[in-house]
Amino acid sequence: MVFLRLKWISADLLASVCLMKRAVCPGSFDPVTFGHLDIIERASAQFDEVVIAVLVNRTKSSMFTVQERMEMIAQTTAHLPNIRVDSWSGLLVEYCKSNDIQSIVKGLRAVTDFDYELQMAQVNLQASGVETMFMATAPAHSFLSSSLVKELAHYGGDVSSMVPKIVNEALKARVAESGN
Ligand code: PNS
Repeated sequence: MVFLRLKWISADLLASVCLMKRAVCPGSFDPVTFGHLDIIERASAQFDEVVIAVLVNRTKSSMFTVQERMEMIAQTTAHLPNIRVDSWSGLLVEYCKSNDIQSIVKGLRAVTDFDYELQMAQVNLQASGVETMFMATAPAHSFLSSSLVKELAHYGGDVSSMVPKIVNEALKARVAESGN
């Protein structure tokens, strides 16, 4: 009887793991901003598990290593119980396939993001059937991007309202190290 009951529990557990709604929030996150964190928090409320995947964007050069970016994300999302941080250097849909992820979540700031994001969503859908869900960026973050933050930080601008404290400190340290 006890054995039967254990079998039931493990079958239930197995079923709930298989039925988990899992999404990925992909990006360069170089570095993570309050705009990213807003999307991550809101996505975490919609899915059982959200993987933040730090990906290599071949069109951008980076300020922080993938490991550094992952650590900043892990620290700033530690309050969210259903978040996992990972990295990947291939096609996003391959990552989704091998991690049983059904949805990609992306933030849309403005119409300028739309063309490129739509193309990627359509290619990813056609290639693999993985859905892309777009979330409207909160108006307070609509102008915010990692590139803008890096540019401001490079010239000594104040980015404390755009990134968490640990990211601000990491930016200042990296700018000081680079010495230009
Ligand atoms: O934060 P970013 O740089 O705008 O993120 C873009 C990113 C890394 C999510 C995108 O370039 C990507 O998905 N790269 C992985 C390779 C891939 O799957 N490309 C899409 C084929 S259309």
